[in-house]
Amino acid sequence: MSYKTDIIKERIPRHIAIIMDGNGRWAKKQGLARMFGHKQGVTTVHRITEAAAEIGIEYMTLYAFSTENWNRPKEEVDALMTLLVDTIAKETPTLMKNNIRLLTIGDIDRLPAETKKKFEGCIEETKQNTGLNLVLALSYSSRWEIIEAAKKIATEVKDGKLDVADINEAIISSHLTTNGIPDPDLLIRTSGELRLSNYLLWQIAYSELYFTDRLWPEFTPEDLYEAIVDYQHRERRFGKTSEQVKIEK
Ligand code: IPE
Ligand code: IPE
Ligand code: MG
Repeated sequence: MSYKTDIIKERIPRHIAIIMDGNGRWAKKQGLARMFGHKQGVTTVHRITEAAAEIGIEYMTLYAFSTENWNRPKEEVDALMTLLVDTIAKETPTLMKNNIRLLTIGDIDRLPAETKKKFEGCIEETKQNTGLNLVLALSYSSRWEIIEAAKKIATEVKDGKLDVADINEAIISSHLTTNGIPDPDLLIRTSGELRLSNYLLWQIAYSELYFTDRLWPEFTPEDLYEAIVDYQHRERRFGKTSEQVKIEK
């Protein structure tokens, strides 16, 4: 039996966000260098992306590299940047084949020129695709994003383009790098860590959280289906009572 058959088609989460964690520990477990874990992690990205596209997920946002990850040893950062370039070159045909559109969020200008160029090329090439929107969070952190939004909003107020009284949720959302992307319905974190690590803090205000001990390199489509089925059995109340939610259904 597969969890896939238990998925309720009418209640597929529109947007799944994932904190892909545990690459290093997976490698260490088999006595390998951390980079082997990252390479295996790319294989998981490939499999999970295809699975998500196939079941009709509209948006999937993957935390690939955080603002804080710049503080890792230089060799690991450099190797990760090279891995990103190689992956984009190799995976663009897969994205085209599966009708997937690539997007990025984060401080892309901090990436090495070559890495940035490769991403821009892939975003351009896949921009007409109408299936899954695959959003990669690169050099991303929520606090960075909120600071940037605050600066933009303050500038608009200063320039007389925006009234302070008009600042509302929609205005804040539209100044974040996720502008135009619906908030995640489901957030998955692998590797057993129970924290958010500066990820989409504004956007996950009402997301359902799912934590699994599975390390990212060993996370399978079946694990994804299991998380979706779990999500589908929750009651999202958005502050209301259970009775109210049942009447609305
Ligand atoms: C996640 O795996 C990938 C990145 C943060 C780039 P880690 O590299 O954090 O793996 P662990 O947490 O050390 O096992
Ligand atoms: C979060 O993982 C960032 C990514 C998955 C890219 P980390 O492994 O960097 O998170 P912390 O620092 O352990 O919380
Ligand atoms: Mg980690």
